[in-house]
Amino acid sequence: MEHSQEMMMASALASQSASPIASPPASRVQTRPLNGAVGMEIVGVDLRDDLSQADFETIRDAWRAHCVILLRGQTLDEAAQVRFAQRFGELGKVLHAHEGRSSLPGVMYISNIRENGKLIGALPDGEMYFHSDQCYIENPSVGTMLYAMEVPSKGGDTIFANMFAAYDALPDDLKTKIEGRVALNVYDYQNAATVRGSTPREGVPSFAHPMVKAHPFTGRKALYFNRLMTHHVVGMDAQESKALLARLFDHQEQERFLYRHVWTPGDLVMWDNRSALHARSDFDSSQRRLMRRTVVVREHQD
Ligand code: OGA
Ligand code: MN
Repeated sequence: MEHSQEMMMASALASQSASPIASPPASRVQTRPLNGAVGMEIVGVDLRDDLSQADFETIRDAWRAHCVILLRGQTLDEAAQVRFAQRFGELGKVLHAHEGRSSLPGVMYISNIRENGKLIGALPDGEMYFHSDQCYIENPSVGTMLYAMEVPSKGGDTIFANMFAAYDALPDDLKTKIEGRVALNVYDYQNAATVRGSTPREGVPSFAHPMVKAHPFTGRKALYFNRLMTHHVVGMDAQESKALLARLFDHQEQERFLYRHVWTPGDLVMWDNRSALHARSDFDSSQRRLMRRTVVVREHQD
């Protein structure tokens, strides 16, 4: 017994020192919870530098496990943001209508700024209800990244909600009601981009997803529906569905599951659309807000 314990200690020590078959360098990246409800801050990283694989995996694993990551004080041009996003996987294409000022494919802006009378980005103004990006298509983007460039003096915060924790805390009667159910998500970008109001009709994208989904990497269950886009529970009486969704939306938006991010230019935030919802608080539309956005549609295989 003692002998084999010694051997294990010896080999553990050997793997720490430089040896011809050295193990990969340990990650130097530090993480700390944002407020304990959702999200991790990543500390000590300048994304202009090349990230080692170990450092990247620390960041990626924090994102998968804690739904949201924040890196403050970054100085990123489009190419550097794209390079970082591409470490996670394949980037989403940007619709022509949203190209705005971006010069690289995969980059778009969220902004209320107009140049020559034309908006340079999407989702310009005001409050946005809680949602998960692209839940109205079959394969939604898994991660969305926003880099803050100009922010209003007050408001325009982005609020995140932890859907792992919201699932865990769901009362048993509600868990039973949504077990095995799918809900139809609809997004009418022309008429209801920021507040509830999309109804299924020709030309408006919609897709029915399970209301509870297991995260592909951690297996943890998360609630997958939201006030902005979830229209009804499939196969349920309309009144019953409406009443049930009202209870579910109130449940998942409780303060105890939320982190509110008050932006400073240079902040980079990335959220996991499989496990987090996000919303935006209102702000004065006469103040400029400019965020650079990249999305990951498919993660690289490990
Ligand atoms: C988004 C989004 C919120 C914000 O880019 O998908 O919802 O705070 N943005 O601008
Ligand atoms: Mn969004």
